Amino acid sequence: MPTSSLMPLPTPSRSVLMIASEALPFSKTGGLADVLGALPPALAQLGWNVTVAVPRYRGTTGGQLLERVTLPLGGTRADVGFYTVDVAERHRVLLVDEPSLFDRAQLYSEGGVDYPDNARRFALLVRAALEYAVRHNHTFDIVHAHDWQAGLAPVYLRTLYASTPVFATTASVFTIHNLAYQGVFEQDWLPRLDLPWSLLEQDGLEFWGRISLLKGGINFSSMITTVSPRYAREIQTAAFGFGFDGILRHRASRLVGILNGIDAQQWNPETDTFLPARFSASDRAGKRECKAAVLREYGLSSDEAALDRPLVGMISRMVDQKGLDLIAGIAHELPNLGATFVVLGTGDARYQEMWRRLAAEHPDTIAVRIGFDEGLAHRIEAGADLFMMPSQFEPCGLNQMYSLRYGTIPIVRRVGGLADTVKDYDEAGADATGFVFDDYTPEQLRRSLRRAVDIYRDTARWTILQRTAMAEDHSWDRSAREYVKIYEQALGSRF
Ligand code: ADP
Ligand code: GLC
Repeated sequence: MPTSSLMPLPTPSRSVLMIASEALPFSKTGGLADVLGALPPALAQLGWNVTVAVPRYRGTTGGQLLERVTLPLGGTRADVGFYTVDVAERHRVLLVDEPSLFDRAQLYSEGGVDYPDNARRFALLVRAALEYAVRHNHTFDIVHAHDWQAGLAPVYLRTLYASTPVFATTASVFTIHNLAYQGVFEQDWLPRLDLPWSLLEQDGLEFWGRISLLKGGINFSSMITTVSPRYAREIQTAAFGFGFDGILRHRASRLVGILNGIDAQQWNPETDTFLPARFSASDRAGKRECKAAVLREYGLSSDEAALDRPLVGMISRMVDQKGLDLIAGIAHELPNLGATFVVLGTGDARYQEMWRRLAAEHPDTIAVRIGFDEGLAHRIEAGADLFMMPSQFEPCGLNQMYSLRYGTIPIVRRVGGLADTVKDYDEAGADATGFVFDDYTPEQLRRSLRRAVDIYRDTARWTILQRTAMAEDHSWDRSAREYVKIYEQALGSRF
């Protein structure tokens, strides 16, 4: 049979406009940026034309100024520059420049306080992205909005832009990366965002007397996705719904969980240029070199005894979500577990302080770096034996997947994407890839740490565990195909 008869029928090229508040390599505070850096090229591989609109923050570099335009917003005007970067064939990034809104020290907040004009900042991002399509007469099949910052995209498509010809056949998809961030603002923002008061109702944006831009994304999109199948179920329950469970149950037939992938080029222990040595599942010698190097980088001993002790890594935003109160609950036992800890993160002052104090009190076993450091994150993933991620809730989580790829065995709580990606040592037999605990208690975390340290001492078992973990495939291709299905579904049943 000629091969051509096996080829799929040619489909006309489709296009998607993604809107998000961060994307690698231009900006990043968390996993959202990784996803917006890696999903677009995976979709482009599948033949989709992808444009990603993100703010041009302070520190965002690159891009060619295409044009400057004046956009109306809530009775005022904003001067916006469109910068474009053609990252690869079929993958363009649109950097939205408005210095008075985006040229700031941080992305969302300073000193723990949100910027008071965040509603305007991100509404403008959305408006600019949609205006770009209008001005260039670009018919996108899909507008794919991410998190509350882009939650107004589906809303504008059905209000302000409802009869704009370029969007006549566009369907919208909204992805929830984290339900805990809801974009809640006072009602009087409605007119300042060019939105009618009629949206102040239960099926609109109203949320306990205020408005939620996240709710806008959920209620007005053709399809809703979130970043793991388990989280898609969890957020429909009161325990994980943050007040949105009823709203999500109401739209359950449109809600799908698609597990994130990882950027298999950026996070590859065989080629990672951040590492002092490289390794693979079949030749793990380089991993020990990475361990010695990361111990030294943290000012810890790297002699043979230190190299034989299990090294536990943690890279995290230091916020409640990530289980830091569990760690606080066993803080003073950490040095007695027979392991060494290296920690990297920024976040709430009290958690930063907790880690600083612990490191000062136990300088031989606990070392901490407060800050954001991409290279060090790679070196911890490579050098550690275990990775600790005891989250209270976790929509997907990327670090546990990076850990698997680097043969760094994750210790996680059975929630969200952690449950979907890590198989417990005591339950999964030969398929095990990590240690998973259920109850959100310090005791359970302590038990898992002890269990992990025990198994680490059994070299034969540890080797099997590492090999199994490293053989997992979480590259984006499969997830990107699932997004394509959702896009097709959205097109088939537009609102
Ligand atoms: P979340 O998005 O909730 O923070 P994820 O696990 O999905 O959690 O993604 C976090 C991403 O941010 C990972 O790529 C992780 O390596 C990175 N990261 C978090 N904190 C730091 C830090 N302090 N320095 C470098 N990278 C960090
Ligand atoms: C959010 C979630 C995290 C997820 C990431 C990317 O920040 O907290 O679990 O991996 O988004 O989807």
